[in-house]
Amino acid sequence: MTRHGPTAEPHRAQWRTPTGFLLAAVGSAIGLGSIWRFAYVCYENGGSAYLIPYGIALVTAGIPLMILEFGLGHRMRGSAPLAFAKVSPRWEWLGWWTVIFVMFGIVLYYAVVIAWCVSFLIYALTLAWGQDPNAFFFQRFLGLTAGPQELGDVRLPILLSLVVVWLINWVIVFFGIERGVERANKIFMPLLFVLTTVLVVWTAFLPGAEEGLRRYLFQPDFRKLAEPKVWIDAYAQTFFTLSLGFGIMIAYASYLPRKSDINVNAAITCVVDTVYSLFAGLAVFGTLGYMAHATGKPFEEVVQKSIGLAFVAYPQAIGLVPSFPKLFGFLFFLALTVAGIASAISILEAFTAAVIDKFHYSRKAVVSVLAITGFLGGVVFTTGGGMFWLDIVDHFLSEYGLFAACILQCVLVGWVLRASELRHYVNSLSAWKVGRWWEWSIRYFIPAILLILLVSGVVKEFSPPYYGDYPLLTLLFLGWGWLVVTLIIALFVAMRPWRRALPH
Ligand code: ALA
Repeated sequence: MTRHGPTAEPHRAQWRTPTGFLLAAVGSAIGLGSIWRFAYVCYENGGSAYLIPYGIALVTAGIPLMILEFGLGHRMRGSAPLAFAKVSPRWEWLGWWTVIFVMFGIVLYYAVVIAWCVSFLIYALTLAWGQDPNAFFFQRFLGLTAGPQELGDVRLPILLSLVVVWLINWVIVFFGIERGVERANKIFMPLLFVLTTVLVVWTAFLPGAEEGLRRYLFQPDFRKLAEPKVWIDAYAQTFFTLSLGFGIMIAYASYLPRKSDINVNAAITCVVDTVYSLFAGLAVFGTLGYMAHATGKPFEEVVQKSIGLAFVAYPQAIGLVPSFPKLFGFLFFLALTVAGIASAISILEAFTAAVIDKFHYSRKAVVSVLAITGFLGGVVFTTGGGMFWLDIVDHFLSEYGLFAACILQCVLVGWVLRASELRHYVNSLSAWKVGRWWEWSIRYFIPAILLILLVSGVVKEFSPPYYGDYPLLTLLFLGWGWLVVTLIIALFVAMRPWRRALPH
C-alpha cells in the first residue's frame, strides 16, 4: 500500500483491435436516448433545421470533449479518478464523484428502463397491451401511484426483467475488456444496425409513413433557430448522448494501445452516434406517420416524447401494422434493449476500472458486487412510485451532475494540466491534428456554455412551478440530495490511500 499517490497498472488490459474499441465507444454513445429522444427533439425543434444547432454543438463541444476524454484516458492510462489524480491529486474526488453518481444513480434507473424494454419485448409476442396501451403501461405495468412519496408495490414483471438485465451486464463486464466488453459490442453493434435497418425499410412501406418523415426531417422550420431553447436542447443533448462526463470514455481509452489515433476515433464516434440517431428516427417517425394515417388523427396527436413515445405511442402503432405486427414489435424492443445494454455495460466498466485502479481488487469480485448492488439499488425504481423517482433523479443527475462534471473536467485539463499539453499529445498520435481552437473550446467555450445551462437550470429549479410539479422538498431530497450524498462519498473515497500491489 502506498500513500505517495496513484500508480499505473503495469499489465493493463487492452482492446484486441482498434475496431473493437470504436464499436465499444459507439455502443456506449448509442443508447435509449438515441432512439427515442433524438427524433422527438429534432421534430420539436424545427426538423432538419435542428441539425444546424446540433451540428454546431457537436463540433464546438461534443467532438472537443470526446478528444479530451479519449486523450486524457490514453495519456494517463487510467479510469477517471486515476487520470484526474495524475493531473493533480487534489482533483481525484472529481473522478470518483463522476463514476459514483453515474454508477449509483444513472445506471440504476437506466437498467430499469432497459428492463421495461425486456418486458415489452415479451409482451410484443402477444401484443399484450391490447387496445389501450396507455392504461396498460401506466396502470397495469407500472402500477403508477399518486406521487414519489407513495412507493406502492414492487412490480414483479419489472423486477424479473431487471434480474435479466443485471445478469447480462454482470456476465459481460465480468469477462473483462477483450473477452467481455469488446466481444459483446462486436455482436451488439452490427445486430443493432441490422435491426434498425429492417425497421426503417419496413416502415418505409407503410402507408402514411412519408407524412411522418416529412414532419420529422423534411420540412425544416428555420424560424425555430431564433429560439434559445433550441440551442440549449442541442447542447444539453450532446453530452448525454455521447456519454460525456460519465468517466466512460476516459476508462475505455485507457485500454488503447500506445499507438492509437485519438482525434479520428473521437470524431468517428460522435458522427456515427449522430448518423445512427437520425437513421433510427426514420423508423420512429415513419411508424407514427403510419399510425396517424391508420387512425385518421392529426399527426400532432399521435406524437409523444421519450417514455410515452416508446411505451405508449409505439405499441399502439405496432398493433396497427398490417403484417407480422408481433415481429415488428419484438424487433423494435430488441433494438432498444441492445442499445441500452451496450451503454449500461460501459457505465459498469467505468466504475469497475476506477475501483481496480485504486484498490487493485479482482475484477470478478468488483463486478459481482456491483451487479448485485446495482440490482438492489434499482429495486426502488421498479415500484409503483418508481417512475416519479426515475424522472426526478434523471433530471438532476443527467443535467446538473453531468454539466458540473464536464465543466470541472474542462477546468482541470484546460487550466491545471494546460490544454496545450494535451493537444500536443493527441496531435502527436493522430492523423487529423486539432488546432488552437480546441484549446480555446476547452478553456473557455465549453465551460461557458455549460455554466449558462447550469445556472439557468438551477434558477428555474428554485422558482415555482417546480420541476414536474413535485414539491420542493421532494426535489431537494431526491434530486439535490442524490448529488450531495454521492459527492460526500466521493470525497471520502478520494482520501483513501492508493494500493500498489496488483491482483492476479
Ligand atoms: N449515451 C447513452 C444514451 O444515449 C447513455 O442513452
